[in-house]
Amino acid sequence: MIEDLKTKGWTKFKQENLNSEYENLTTYIKFLEDKLNFQIKNTNSKIDKEIFKSTLRSLVKISSESNYFLLEIVKKIVSLDKKYENYYVSYPYLLFHLPSDREEKGTLHTDTIKESGESITCWSPVNYYNLEYSPLTIIEKTNNFFDLYFLKILRRLLSDNKIYNLYYKKFKNTVDLKPEKLDSFIWDADTIHVGNLNEGEKPHYALTSKISKEPHLTEPSIKVKDYILSEKKFKNFDKIEYEILFNEINNINQRIKNFYKNNNFDSESKIFINMLSNIKKEINNKELIHCIAFAYSLIGFKQKDRKLSLLQYFTSVFFLPKYLSSFYNVIMISKELKNFSYLDYLKKIPNFDEIFQQMFKNKYKKYLN
Ligand SMILES: [Fe+2]
Repeated sequence: MIEDLKTKGWTKFKQENLNSEYENLTTYIKFLEDKLNFQIKNTNSKIDKEIFKSTLRSLVKISSESNYFLLEIVKKIVSLDKKYENYYVSYPYLLFHLPSDREEKGTLHTDTIKESGESITCWSPVNYYNLEYSPLTIIEKTNNFFDLYFLKILRRLLSDNKIYNLYYKKFKNTVDLKPEKLDSFIWDADTIHVGNLNEGEKPHYALTSKISKEPHLTEPSIKVKDYILSEKKFKNFDKIEYEILFNEINNINQRIKNFYKNNNFDSESKIFINMLSNIKKEINNKELIHCIAFAYSLIGFKQKDRKLSLLQYFTSVFFLPKYLSSFYNVIMISKELKNFSYLDYLKKIPNFDEIFQQMFKNKYKKYLN
């Protein structure tokens, strides 16, 4: 299997040793999906779809169910090669594709992050039903320097569709994954792949995580062997009610939007930061803070208005300076809008001293000093 990973760029395995991890996780997801559907039906139809989705995705992220499930994958990978014990694993990340949701259709890409060193992506469909479509296509043997750079060049000239049909389809082996229950997939982070449109009738879920030689650059990760040792702690993970988190995220979003409507985005960042400070002071539950930070990294990503997107990414980092993908986006949008007042505040965050935060600071020092 590890040989496949090197030569083809990907491999799969069946998790036959699972006891109830898969059932527990899919049952929890289904439970949350029912809550989400109920909420969508019974609340203001103007609320952004991403508020509902990010609530569900945050809850799965911090759940014992997703961690027990990921742990089994991690153990399997360590059993294939002991070297992975000393690698880092990022925490569970749920992909959530609604039927015919074009916004979730991916682009041809790799998962490479240079600073994280040699990395693999773990991807496991976690649906409570059998999939009818192929959620992901892998282009075999593209995990090499040539294909990575060739894609970068091609993308400047051609659309993803053309690259796929004129080049990959003709000259490479493209594999449409057809996952069955308990199948898990791993690929070399350098392998080119693309997420496909959900053509089925039900939402599709997959749990992903990255295992890398160095810490993950833009989100928290933990040494694999420490993750395995922390198993006992999983059962004490607190649950947050879907409704409580949803209301919290939705209220904050209303206030962000009110600020945007009634204040001057360019000159009144202090008012915005004060507002967020007051909101955060009222929330004592650490897990709730974690969920809000993660949810706003997802909400900011889907927001098309760049200023509003900056405010949402800022909210994510403000609540927890561990979602550095949000921090990165605050940097990039600040640059684009030529407004650094929000970024200036983030530069002063104390205790920004975990390894990955240092790596991040170093990479973007041009903007952070
Ligand atoms: Fe990917």
